[in-house]
Amino acid sequence: MYRLFYDHLLARVDAERAHTLGVAAFRRGAWAFRAARALHLTPRPSGSVRAMGMDVPGHLGLAAGMDKNAQAVTGLSAAGFAFVEIGTVTARPQPGNERPRSWRERDVRALRNQMGFNNDGADAVARRLARLRSTRAGRKVVLGVNIGKTKVTPAEHAATDYAYSARLLSPYADYLVVNVSSPNTPGLRDLQSTEALRPILTHVRAAADAAVARRVPLLVKIAPDLADADVDAVADLAIELGLDGIVATNTTIAHDRGPGGLSGPPVRARAVEVVSRLRARAGDSLAIIGVGGIESEADARALLDAGATLLQTYTGFVYQGPRWVARLNAALSR
Ligand code: FNR
Repeated sequence: MYRLFYDHLLARVDAERAHTLGVAAFRRGAWAFRAARALHLTPRPSGSVRAMGMDVPGHLGLAAGMDKNAQAVTGLSAAGFAFVEIGTVTARPQPGNERPRSWRERDVRALRNQMGFNNDGADAVARRLARLRSTRAGRKVVLGVNIGKTKVTPAEHAATDYAYSARLLSPYADYLVVNVSSPNTPGLRDLQSTEALRPILTHVRAAADAAVARRVPLLVKIAPDLADADVDAVADLAIELGLDGIVATNTTIAHDRGPGGLSGPPVRARAVEVVSRLRARAGDSLAIIGVGGIESEADARALLDAGATLLQTYTGFVYQGPRWVARLNAALSR
């Protein structure tokens, strides 16, 4: 079914239009995905993974960037994801970069993008999440919220910018991710240095604690292009500040295919390396969400064997569709 939808519709329009159509299908078709699951036509994520103080119904979730504005959460969840990470959301709404800004790299089953955090902004997304969480189906989803810096906010005000989003969005989040690793907002990845990261994480923690009585787990998402010593430094800082985990990794800029970050198989080997390094450094004190280039059960298991607690996919899902996700989750919980 997805193959037909992909070959006859999605593959014929440009990558961004295909993305918009795909998200709309999960938004409008949420009832159909829920019905298919109720009728056992979709394998449910049947395991239970203990992570960050939660029971997650499977290993594989949706990575950030697909449902930036939280418009299709219940549909995506019913289609087979064990958890859904929305965003990246910035404090203020912004249009992102000029189009075209998203490309398929079909020869390597990858995607390349320089979207630049196009999103509706924290206020609008908070309103949408309030509606989502007021429904039974919406409350059941294990929901991650990924936040980033507004483009026009200078680096020296980054902590306040992130904290604004954390305050508005953490009431609806099962976990919060500070994204400092997108290659498409100028200067953002410099925020991965421990001097820049420390005040951001401290402010975000305080803002989330002030906004919600429960302790919302906090993670940081890093780039595959960090040097090993910097990966270690982020792990040390995360432990020092009492963070709950690290999402590894974002897209890579180590390629020669044009502008933007590359995702999918070209990221896989480094993602496994980074996860393994983080696990060696952090022992049991951090959850690690492994993401990058998962196309098969073997890829997923390689990340788990390297030390990932949970997994996410974006590009594999685009090429292979929701049944693949549901089947992979079922296979991983066996
Ligand atoms: C992304 N990714 C991403 N990550 C993030 O933290 N915030 C975002 O807004 C986005 N946006 C985004 C858009 C597009 C078009 C792609 C392909 C990717 C990165 C994504 O979450 C993931 O970390 C990487 O794509 C690696 O995983 P896959 O795609 O290889 O499974």
